[in-house]
Amino acid sequence: MSAEARVEPGAPVLAVEDLHLTYVTADGDVPALRGVSLEVRSGEVLGLAGESGCGKSSLASTVLRLQPASARVSGRVLVSGEDVLTLRWGALRAVRWAGASIVFQGALHSLDPVQRVGHQIEEPIALHEPGTSPAERRRRVAELLEQVGLPAARARAYPHQLSGGQRQRVMIAMALACRPDLVVADEPTTALDVMVQAQVLALLSELVRGSGVAMVLISHDLSVLGQMSDRVAVMYAGRVVEQGPASAVLGDARHPYAAALSGAFPRVGDPAARFAPSGLPGDPPDLRSLPPGCPFAPRCHRAAPTCAEAEPALLPLAVPSGPTSAAGPAGPAGPAGPRERLAACVRLEES
Ligand SMILES: Nc1ncnc2c1ncn2[C@@H]1O[C@H](COP(=O)(O)OP(=O)(O)OP(=O)(O)O)[C@@H](O)[C@H]1O
Ligand code: SF4
Ligand SMILES: [Mg+2]
Repeated sequence: MSAEARVEPGAPVLAVEDLHLTYVTADGDVPALRGVSLEVRSGEVLGLAGESGCGKSSLASTVLRLQPASARVSGRVLVSGEDVLTLRWGALRAVRWAGASIVFQGALHSLDPVQRVGHQIEEPIALHEPGTSPAERRRRVAELLEQVGLPAARARAYPHQLSGGQRQRVMIAMALACRPDLVVADEPTTALDVMVQAQVLALLSELVRGSGVAMVLISHDLSVLGQMSDRVAVMYAGRVVEQGPASAVLGDARHPYAAALSGAFPRVGDPAARFAPSGLPGDPPDLRSLPPGCPFAPRCHRAAPTCAEAEPALLPLAVPSGPTSAAGPAGPAGPAGPRERLAACVRLEES
């Protein structure tokens, strides 16, 4: 967490409430997020799963208000208690980097090719902490590079002089430069080979556990999410269809889509899995013309006529009694809370 802790211990660092995002395009409106609610606490990793196009990156960019200006947005995104959707520009700039930062997938394209990486890591510090001296900033850059496993001397390197894994480490150092409370990592290792991927994931994990940062980790790779996450949310067609403790959602998914996804459990680094999890027929729906009712119905082996009537709400699962339940304390389904085990399917009671 940041030096000046802005979040009470145990309070959510990120709380997303009923978030809707619609891209306005020449081909029509694309409702990429359709009522997403979730939260992440300090020192916690929330894994976000789902096929290509389900809205994972849209959620990541909206958390930092980086969505296109033409997009329509409603709901709330509270980062360390402040709603980034309504903040004035100056305050928003302070939240970006210092409150929350993002690690994108393509480090090669995200770094400026003509600037030394040390300068690029130093830039957000200079912007957000203008009182720091150049010597103090250089010291911080050296520390950050060492924290991500690179020699401090690499500060003088240009991006093309570094390997893919080293560039991704530089991106992580940049994301940590202003000691954020929240890091959003959008497929941070997809472009890397399996060995380097494992090293970068271990590094991210160590940083989160060691410093109490909260993380949203996006990956199409469920084995990565299983390894890294405390909680997992599975998205389909712009909505969360199941969320809860990682072991419960990945090991015993209750929503038919989440079950198909986790049943397909792709191998680490298998790029084909993002487009078509094996064993799951058909394609995700076109968001511009969603079918009535449950959007998963055309692909769902459990679909019944009632599924086409209305889109199921995300509700707490009734869990069997007993202290060892992965879904938390036993009891009947009550009002939905963002930390419970939730799923959106009309047939849950029958399973
Ligand atoms: N800038 C944009 N303008 C219009 N539509 C967009 C834009 N960005 C994303 N979309 C659409 O919004 C939907 C969600 O896209 P998004 O990139 O959030 O999915 P994703 O889950 O991150 O997919 P992937 O796994 O491929 O990264 C898709 O239908 C996509 O085509
Ligand atoms: S609501 Fe119906 S179609 Fe949708 S996931 Fe549940 S069973 Fe399948
Ligand atoms: Mg994406």
